[in-house]
Amino acid sequence: MNEKATISFTQAVVTNAPAPAQHPQALLDLPPGEARDSLLAVHHVLEAELPKRRLSIYEAGGGSTCYLPLDVLRRAHVTVVDIDAEQLRNNDYAQNRILGDIQEHRFAPDSFDLVMCYNVIEHLGDPEAALARFCAALKPGGMILIGAPNPRSLSGVVTKYSPHWFHIWFYRHVRGRMDAGLPGHPPFPTVFHPLVTLSNLARFATAHGLDTIYRRAYESPRFPEMRLRKPWLAAVVDACAAILNLAWRGAADVRHGDYHVILRRR
Ligand SMILES: C[S@@+](CC[C@H](N)C(=O)[O-])C[C@H]1O[C@@H](n2cnc3c(N)ncnc32)[C@H](O)[C@@H]1O
Repeated sequence: MNEKATISFTQAVVTNAPAPAQHPQALLDLPPGEARDSLLAVHHVLEAELPKRRLSIYEAGGGSTCYLPLDVLRRAHVTVVDIDAEQLRNNDYAQNRILGDIQEHRFAPDSFDLVMCYNVIEHLGDPEAALARFCAALKPGGMILIGAPNPRSLSGVVTKYSPHWFHIWFYRHVRGRMDAGLPGHPPFPTVFHPLVTLSNLARFATAHGLDTIYRRAYESPRFPEMRLRKPWLAAVVDACAAILNLAWRGAADVRHGDYHVILRRR
């Protein structure tokens, strides 16, 4: 840590240029905890497993937030497909922006080293169609990164069975996002098709010639965020989660509100 700081400082003195950033804002914005740890682990897998050359990346469902490690982003040509024109405009790092539906859009076979679908799969009525198109567009050895909320968690169940106006209320008054629900701003209506559980995704992967090379459900960053912003509400939610976890007797942790999965084409 000290060594890195010294190198950056020395470079700054000699060249007067800022040291290149190491992490995307999405990672820096995450509070310390399981979500940050898992995204760092995802970055390590991508940096180790992606070829060390110019990369072709498909981002299915765009927006302004980049979750890729910066070392990967710097040598990537990114194509984004999004159904929302405002979200496409918000994306400032893709070279190729396509207005379309990821459940229908097809690319030529062997097009991409990586397909990433981050906080999108839970919004799809037909995620199988989207995933089948991702597989068809992958190069041999190419990877699919999925980041999504976990339907088998406390926050997943609440999200699935509550109306959309409640999600907008939560974003505005608990998360402090006053633009929530305006055109091009989250939250987007959530479907939670049965395929988007970790176990069903694993079955899909096996049936479609994909190996699961990373898989982790982790505590949603909403928990630490809520503890900071609304401690009284966080105390109630933490108590509910503790009671449910006791009732489940360790079979699952209901706090694990999000997951990462990386699948690789054989
Ligand atoms: C919650 S946002 C996530 C955006 C970005 N990936 C992120 O994590 O910040 C969900 C995105 O999926 C897009 N989306 C939802 N359904 C889609 C579909 N069928 N085809 C393409 N994009 C879709 C929405 O327009 C929105 O941009």
